[in-house]
Amino acid sequence: MEKRTYYNNIAHIYDQTRWLTTSVAEEVADFILELVDATPETSFLEPGVGTGLNVLPFVKRGYSVTGIDVSQPMIDQFKQKLHNISQNLRLIHADASQFPFPDQSFDVVLTVHMIHGISNRKMFLDEVDRVLKPQGFYLNAQWITPPARMEFERYFRAILAKYEVEETSKQVKKVIEQINLEDYFHSKGYRSNYVIAKEWTVSNTVEELLGFLKLRAYGLCWLVSDEIFPRVMREFEEFCVEHYGSLETELSSQAKFEIWAYTAS
Ligand SMILES: C[S@@+](CC[C@H](N)C(=O)[O-])C[C@H]1O[C@@H](n2cnc3c(N)ncnc32)[C@H](O)[C@@H]1O
Repeated sequence: MEKRTYYNNIAHIYDQTRWLTTSVAEEVADFILELVDATPETSFLEPGVGTGLNVLPFVKRGYSVTGIDVSQPMIDQFKQKLHNISQNLRLIHADASQFPFPDQSFDVVLTVHMIHGISNRKMFLDEVDRVLKPQGFYLNAQWITPPARMEFERYFRAILAKYEVEETSKQVKKVIEQINLEDYFHSKGYRSNYVIAKEWTVSNTVEELLGFLKLRAYGLCWLVSDEIFPRVMREFEEFCVEHYGSLETELSSQAKFEIWAYTAS
């Protein structure tokens, strides 16, 4: 299954299996508004908007927000969070490789965990540059996986690799071939700035994390076929019992919301 289409299958469990809470998203929104020196007229575009975790606070505060996503089920999850679709929110079901907007349409373009889903990154960045207003901001962000979950995932990947080594290495190669954002924006005369908007603690039991994997909540779970997946999970569960001592073991560590901010000088 293509990486970006598996979201159709997991849209209904996306929020519960990630770690950006509503209150953290509100604090991150405060940080971003200050970073971009927002006024009530500031407009936002999030390509790959998903279920709206990042931009919902802006919508609620009355900012003009546009979201694009290739997955209709993800967009539907976003819509369910709003009792009535807000006047200030536009959601477009489309591939975000090309934007259906005139030049200089937005003050802020935000991407979170989505740039890896773009097959032609140069074309995408040209579009970001085109639709940004003068002095606009491109914010490429991610909520870094908390180290304890990262380690849990590394153990899982090691077992997965025994079953589907070829697919995994193809994915890695695809990422390496992509162009570098820093080089791209510097060549266009943008300034860049790396900031951490928020750090917070994430805690889950091993059992909970195993449950998320069993639901196939992450792209890597779709690298193996439906037939093989239960075998991988059985082997990984046995590993977890031995390694963590108990499935009740709590894994706690710090998550970070990090942002690479690019702005035209
Ligand atoms: C990891 S999710 C991130 C969602 C949201 N940005 C967040 O941080 O929660 C990636 C999202 O990007 C969407 N996506 C991936 N490639 C895309 C593309 N080429 N055009 C539009 N949406 C895309 C997926 O459907 C999915 O909703």
